[in-house]
Amino acid sequence: MLIKNKKSWHESENAVTPEGLYQTRRTFIKGAAGIVGLAGLAGAGVASGAFAANQRVLNKLDHTKSGFDPREALTPEAAVTNYNNYYEYGTDKADPAANAWRLQPKPWSVSVDGMVDKPATYAFEDLVDMQSLEERIYRLRCVEAWSMVIPWIGVPLSAILAKVGVQGGAKYVGFETLADPKQMPGVRRRVLDWPYVEGLTLAEAMNPLTFVAVGLYGKELPNQNGAPLRLIVPWKYGYKSIKSIVRITLGDKQPETSWGRSAPSEYGFYSNVNPLVEHPRWSQARERRIGEFGRRKTLMFNGYGEQVAHLYAGMDLRENH
Ligand code: MTE
Repeated sequence: MLIKNKKSWHESENAVTPEGLYQTRRTFIKGAAGIVGLAGLAGAGVASGAFAANQRVLNKLDHTKSGFDPREALTPEAAVTNYNNYYEYGTDKADPAANAWRLQPKPWSVSVDGMVDKPATYAFEDLVDMQSLEERIYRLRCVEAWSMVIPWIGVPLSAILAKVGVQGGAKYVGFETLADPKQMPGVRRRVLDWPYVEGLTLAEAMNPLTFVAVGLYGKELPNQNGAPLRLIVPWKYGYKSIKSIVRITLGDKQPETSWGRSAPSEYGFYSNVNPLVEHPRWSQARERRIGEFGRRKTLMFNGYGEQVAHLYAGMDLRENH
């Protein structure tokens, strides 16, 4: 399906930042993130009073620190939770923070099916071992040429896959987001072919970097960031990092992906960050780190080449963009 509505992603690189948020970032840099940051968001069209009242209270999560830390400045929490892509809640960056209070992440369950030893519908707590949560600081690089550095909390995807037992012939892992019009007003509009789906090769899924996040900044995931569990694949474009997962399917065929269906020439299955490949509407060579002035060079595999380049040996990474 091709997208008929113009997406905010599809604006030019210079146009993707609403002015109010840009002002907010300037405020962050001055070091007064919280209060003034929200004032800036109100300028971007968000009624801060209205959505603040609807936000759920986020519990702190016990976790250990892991060695995953690029030693770069963290993106201010208010930017991480107020500048989002979550099309089930609208296509503007400020929409998810304003609308995602409708999501009910507790209780939550995830169906696991396909080529696994223990197919079942698992309660969230049975799939994610909350006693072994770790914090990993990972970059998230959006195809729209902005990036953030975020302290995520979660477990390796491989730990979840070990629980359900991957069968011998499995080659791919597919993921699906909830698509409930009662909780997600955006799915009434066919901006994407719902439910949102994504996929990885089994080797990508088992790579030690691949992470299932249940929290950020020491607390449970806010709804707009994909509560209660979402994928983080740090060397991939952000659109691989599917939110609010309700289904995981192991199989031997490459799964379809939402962005691949909507615009196959723009969003490849492999979607490794490749600064040498032009996105049809903008360059991928540089990125704006949210909270900073100017742009920095985009790194191949988002800087994680040492850990993952071997997964793509022999593959044409321009073709498989
Ligand atoms: N997952 C779902 N279900 N729906 C979405 O629209 N957007 C993707 C990804 N996961 C998206 C999604 C895109 S394009 C990006 S860049 C990241 O989520 C953004 O994650 P963030 O809002 O936590 O920064």
